[in-house]
Amino acid sequence: MNWNNCIRQFHRWLSIVFTVTVIANFVAMGLGEPPGWIVYSPLPPLFLLLFTGLYMFVLPYITQWRGERRIGGEA
Ligand code: HEM
Repeated sequence: MNWNNCIRQFHRWLSIVFTVTVIANFVAMGLGEPPGWIVYSPLPPLFLLLFTGLYMFVLPYITQWRGERRIGGEA
């Protein structure tokens, strides 16, 4: 289904954003005391990753409950 694919792509690209914010933290710490906005910058993408990830986790179980065989509607 298209909507599920959008969620997966969103999760995929958010993981890159999250990774960049974590790397920025290490770089900033190497330069001294990092400002608060850098320290907390991984939290918003991580929060969104949690919900999109949990959505993807329960997806196969939801389709099973609905009696469907595959998420993509194949076969
Ligand atoms: C915070 C809690 C998170 C949960 C509950 C979660 C859960 C999931 C689930 C259920 C999947 C789908 C696995 C499947 O194919 O069946 C997935 C895929 C993935 N996750 Fe997460 N995830 C989380 C955080 C992260 C983080 C922190 C990263 C990386 C920085 C990440 C990167 C990815 C990537 C790259 C995929 C593959 C996406 C694709 O198929 O294109 N996730 N995650």
